[in-house]
Amino acid sequence: MKRRSLMDASLHLLLPLIFVSLSWMMIGIEGHAHHYLGKEKVTQLHFFLHDTISGDNPSAVLVAQRNGTKVGNGSPGQFGEVYVVDDPLTESPDPNSKVVGHAQGLYVFAGRKELLLVFAVDFGFTSGEFNGSSISVLSRNPIMETDREVAVVGGRGKFRMARGFANLHTYSFNTTSGDAVVEYNVTVFHYV
Ligand SMILES: *[C@@H]1O[C@H](CO)[C@@H](O)[C@H](O)[C@H]1NC(C)=O
Ligand SMILES: *[C@@H]1O[C@H](CO)[C@@H](O)[C@H](O)[C@H]1NC(C)=O
Ligand SMILES: *[C@@H]1O[C@H](CO)[C@@H](O)[C@H](O)[C@H]1NC(C)=O
Ligand SMILES: *[C@@H]1O[C@H](CO)[C@@H](O)[C@H](O)[C@H]1NC(C)=O
Repeated sequence: MKRRSLMDASLHLLLPLIFVSLSWMMIGIEGHAHHYLGKEKVTQLHFFLHDTISGDNPSAVLVAQRNGTKVGNGSPGQFGEVYVVDDPLTESPDPNSKVVGHAQGLYVFAGRKELLLVFAVDFGFTSGEFNGSSISVLSRNPIMETDREVAVVGGRGKFRMARGFANLHTYSFNTTSGDAVVEYNVTVFHYV
C-alpha cells in the first residue's frame, strides 16, 4: 500500500516534468528545422512545355486505357487513358530553342464529364541556376481551359520542400495530331 502511493506520488511529480521536457524537445526540433532550411524565398520560372504524341519519336506515349469503345480524341471518351511523358521544356515556344529541362512522369485522363488531366510530373531543370533541381506537380489540369493553374507540391535540390503554383497557357494545340505547346509561369516558395 505504502509503496503504491509512493509510486503514485512520484508519477505525479514526473508527468509534468515529462511534458515540459517534451515541449522543450519540440521547440528544439522546430528551431533546428528553421535553421536547416534557411530563409524562405520566392522564385519565378518561365518556360514552354512541348507535348508531342504524334510521329516516330513521341514525348508522350499511351500506356493504358480502359477496355471498351473509345469515343474519340478530344472527348471524355479518353477517360481512363494513361500517358507516360518525357516532355522537353524550352526557353521559347520554338521547339528548337534552348532546352532548360524535362517534364517526366505521367498524366491520366481523369474526367468523366469533361476532358481533363491529372498530372503527376517531376519538372527537372538541366540548365542555369536550377540545374539539377526540380519541382513536383501533382494536380488537376483542365486542358480545355486556355488558362489554368496547377499545384506545385514539392521539389528537389534548390527546390527542396518547395510549394507553389503554376499558371499555364496553351500556346498552341494541333487538334489533328494532339500535339501541344504550353507556356508555364511558375511561382515557387522555397528556402535558401
Ligand atoms: C473487354 O471488352 C471486350 C469487348 O467488349 C469483352 O469481351 C472483354 O470481356 C472485356 N475484358 C475485360 C477484362 O473487361
Ligand atoms: C548541369 O549539371 C550537370 C551535373 O552536375 C553537369 O554535368 C552539366 O554540365 C550542367 N549543365 C549546365 C548547363 O550547367
Ligand atoms: C507569364 O508571365 C509573363 C510576364 O509577366 C506574361 O507575359 C505571360 O502572359 C504569363 N503567362 C502565363 C501563362 O501566366
Ligand atoms: C497538325 O498535325 C497534322 C498531323 O500531324 C499536320 O499535318 C499539320 O501540319 C499540323 N498543323 C500545324 C499547324 O502544325
